[in-house]
Amino acid sequence: MKALVQRRYGSAVFGDLDVPVPGPGEVLLEVRSAGVDMGTWHLLTGRPYLVRVLGFGFRGPKSPVPGRDVAGVVKETGPGVTGFSPGDEVFGTCEGSFAEYAVAPVSRLARKPANVSFAEAAAVPISGGTALQGLRGVRAGHRVLVIGAGGGVGSYGVQIAKALGAHVTGVCSTSKVELVRSLGADEVVDYTVADFTGTYDLILDCGGNRKLSRTRRALTERGTLVLVGAENGGSLTGGFERALGAGLLNLFVKHTLVPLMSTERSDVFEELRVLVEAGKVKPPVDREFPLSEGLDAIDHVYSRRSRGKVVVTI
Ligand SMILES: NC(=O)c1ccc[n+]([C@@H]2O[C@H](COP(=O)([O-])OP(=O)(O)OC[C@H]3O[C@@H](n4cnc5c(N)ncnc54)[C@H](OP(=O)(O)O)[C@@H]3O)[C@@H](O)[C@H]2O)c1
Repeated sequence: MKALVQRRYGSAVFGDLDVPVPGPGEVLLEVRSAGVDMGTWHLLTGRPYLVRVLGFGFRGPKSPVPGRDVAGVVKETGPGVTGFSPGDEVFGTCEGSFAEYAVAPVSRLARKPANVSFAEAAAVPISGGTALQGLRGVRAGHRVLVIGAGGGVGSYGVQIAKALGAHVTGVCSTSKVELVRSLGADEVVDYTVADFTGTYDLILDCGGNRKLSRTRRALTERGTLVLVGAENGGSLTGGFERALGAGLLNLFVKHTLVPLMSTERSDVFEELRVLVEAGKVKPPVDREFPLSEGLDAIDHVYSRRSRGKVVVTI
């Protein structure tokens, strides 16, 4: 099969690999589209170095193919698989979706939303799932601030918070203002012009690495700050110490400070399927790249040029 092949951190080439074989609890997928997110860049480069000790491979990547978000068609089922059959259209996550075929555990798959393309479905799992898990507890009437609202997680954060009935303010740079407005944000703050003001019941922080003290000042007395991530935190830990600090501080303050570690599970993807089919969440696909240009797709996300999501189409 054709695939983007990654033998060591920092480089990959378009080449050939054997089609993988599904083990117990897994299916072989004919990949139609693969989503790209900042995680794809981290696992391609092995940076920050923290990812190497988190189980993705110390000296080199464990998976010879990059990409986790996937949408495709079940080709073959492994031993013990129930609930999925050849021909089923699915989406979710796997190891190595930048390829014509990939093996995925059924515990990380759900039926593809019927009303969207494979490209749109592949743009949902990690970013949408992270936003969904970060917004747990949001209720109608809550005021929600999404920092990094024009990016992958943030663009779902805006839509899911609106679907939950919140009043949503999105923070982004100038080129993403129109997108964030189109996603349904009640207010949009262009942080290159002015920083956000006001107080919020929940802040979903997906970009910028603002100081905790600065962001906490924008919370209501019992407000919640969910730290998703940011890209300006250094090559060793990637700024993870900020999340760690928030977890410790959480023990002593009235605010709830959540260092989010999202999980990839079929029940989360099933919730997203329902939201997408109800028209409450629309995958904001900015650009599609062919598989042979997979590295350009990752670079497009890394360089922050993408508005919403980028996908690789096989
Ligand atoms: N904790 C978890 O489980 C989890 C899961 C998924 C992702 N992540 C991490 O979360 C972060 C966001 O992921 P993503 O996929 O959404 O990345 P992304 O698509 O690159 O989005 C991040 C957004 O933040 C914006 N941004 C940068 N500086 C900003 C600032 N000062 N103020 C406001 N916005 C700013 C960026 O563009 P503009 O500057 O042009 O607005 C970009 O749109 C990444 O670091 C990723 O690794 C964590």
